[in-house]
Amino acid sequence: MAEKILIASGKGGVGKSTFSVFLAKNLAGKDKKVLVIDSDTGLGSLDILFGVPDKVVNSWADVIADGCDAKQAVLEISTNLYLMPSPRFFEGEIPDDIFKNITRQLDDEYDVVIIDASAGIDDNLKRCAYACDRAIFVATADEISVRCAASAAIEVQKHGILYDDMRIVINRYVKKAALKSKLLNIDGVIDKTGISLLGILPEDKKVPFMSVTNDTPSSKSVFIGAVDRIADRMLGKNVPLNFKKFK
Ligand SMILES: Nc1ncnc2c1ncn2[C@@H]1O[C@H](COP(=O)(O)OP(=O)(O)O)[C@@H](O)[C@H]1O
Ligand SMILES: [Mg+2]
Repeated sequence: MAEKILIASGKGGVGKSTFSVFLAKNLAGKDKKVLVIDSDTGLGSLDILFGVPDKVVNSWADVIADGCDAKQAVLEISTNLYLMPSPRFFEGEIPDDIFKNITRQLDDEYDVVIIDASAGIDDNLKRCAYACDRAIFVATADEISVRCAASAAIEVQKHGILYDDMRIVINRYVKKAALKSKLLNIDGVIDKTGISLLGILPEDKKVPFMSVTNDTPSSKSVFIGAVDRIADRMLGKNVPLNFKKFK
């Protein structure tokens, strides 16, 4: 059975989709067969981030509207890496169990299913949480993002994911800014959310421009190294934060 992982935050623009993409690529490179589901109706970005916007034919809306098989809504990106895009427009009712239904159909096909949640503490977060075994919250190290992650975690818990099965990833971390008290420190984020730390991703200057330039951080970058260590931790390895390399 696939391990089903929710990537959530409550707040928008903190790096859920970016993290979902890099995590999925990394796990696929570690021989895991990975499906990423873009849950964000109308505001989906994963097809662009994966560089396949012209290849999208179906989305999970076809599973609702036409009763098409979940498999038919899956797009192969590369070896071991698959995407189920979100619809650009959808006006019908989205069933509460849409993602649960989809993951149930595809459970035997993948090792890992990542569901990239939309922003908000709403019905979509509920639908995503309901389909997942565990959750990773992405937050930047500021009061607003951290409060939103804490609120999202309370909501996610209501839909069946235990705090023990939640982790937090701190994104866009700049050590110097934290030292000058312009960002929260790591302990502050953990204390304010009550969620154990999975990893820290640094600010990377290439990441915001990727969708235009197609130029991604190099495999030797601190950012990719941090993603790699997060993926290893998820696979049960005990790896250090390697925090010395952060600026
Ligand atoms: N580690 C990072 N360094 C620099 N920019 C980042 C980083 N992570 C995300 N971003 C940028 O932040 C913005 C929001 O990221 P996105 O993944 O779309 O957030 P979300 O899915 O939470 O709304 C994008 O412009 C993205 O390129
Ligand atoms: Mg997103």
